Amino acid sequence: MTGLRLAYVFLFLASCYIQCCYGVDSIIGHDDPYYRTLPCPNPEDIAPCACFYFNEGMHMNCTHISDDEELHQVFHSLIPFPAFRSLSLPTERLTTLSETVFGEVTFENVEIHCQSGIHNKDCDETLTTIDPNTFMKSVSTLRSLEIYISNISEFPFDTIGEYLNIDTFRLTNSPLATFPTINSETLKELYLINNTFREIPAHVLDGVPKLTHLQLQHNNIDSLAKAFMKLKVLLNLVNYSSQLTRLHRTRFDLSGPS
Ligand SMILES: *[C@@H]1O[C@H](CO)[C@@H](O)[C@H](O)[C@H]1NC(C)=O
Ligand SMILES: *[C@@H]1O[C@H](CO)[C@@H](O)[C@H](O)[C@H]1NC(C)=O
Ligand SMILES: *[C@@H]1O[C@H](CO)[C@@H](O)[C@H](O)[C@H]1NC(C)=O
Ligand SMILES: *[C@@H]1O[C@H](CO)[C@@H](O)[C@H](O)[C@H]1NC(C)=O
Repeated sequence: MTGLRLAYVFLFLASCYIQCCYGVDSIIGHDDPYYRTLPCPNPEDIAPCACFYFNEGMHMNCTHISDDEELHQVFHSLIPFPAFRSLSLPTERLTTLSETVFGEVTFENVEIHCQSGIHNKDCDETLTTIDPNTFMKSVSTLRSLEIYISNISEFPFDTIGEYLNIDTFRLTNSPLATFPTINSETLKELYLINNTFREIPAHVLDGVPKLTHLQLQHNNIDSLAKAFMKLKVLLNLVNYSSQLTRLHRTRFDLSGPS
């Protein structure tokens, strides 16, 4: 009897020792990539995506997803807490982000990158279509939608104004052939670098009164249009800003070959 009791005491002390010297994490497996960090979903349910919880937010990294269907499956698995801070997707292997692909899940920041090449030229950008309603569940949460490289030549720009808190939109390194009309009361940063449009319509900035950053490098805009745009942007900013300090913070860039 005493022997058994002693054995328990020994085990208890031993476990205290391990916890003190090696930390709780190594005992209960926090180092295991498949360890579930609540409120994230079970790693097995969402693989090959991975969810991380840090800075009081859930971050979903789906850079290893293999096709549209698999992405749909991931977001239709058991996801107990559907409000995510961020989502990372590859521009390769995906072709369409459908209306229903993300189910009930919402995001604040969405980034679509080239996963295979650091240099965009090595990228096999197949992502071509984003449905007007793909991110509509995030209508009050979405702050940024950033597509760094894609095959998107048409985008539902008329929906941007519906996102109540969006401040950054990026569609760069893509075959967008016409300059979009955007109406948004909240948008501050717009990046349309390296697309294929040649003209900038005259009233293009009227719909984005809060804009402070605009980058349009590496489009085929002729120099007269560039000069006109610069003037127009300055006039707009003077008109819209109550303090001139706003102008100093403005980054406006049309450079690049025309
Ligand atoms: C996603 O994971 C890949 C590797 O698995 C990593 O290179 C990338 O930086 C991650 N992205 C984010 C936003 O965490
Ligand atoms: C890019 O989109 C066009 C249609 O707009 C399509 O014909 C082409 O195959 C796509 N390219 C890739 C690499 O997916
Ligand atoms: C522009 O984007 C294309 C892909 O659409 C890419 O291949 C090319 O390298 C980019 N050019 C620059 C100057 O970034
Ligand atoms: C600036 O405001 C003036 C007066 O309200 C208006 O006539 C002008 O068209 C505005 N300029 C721009 C570029 O919006």
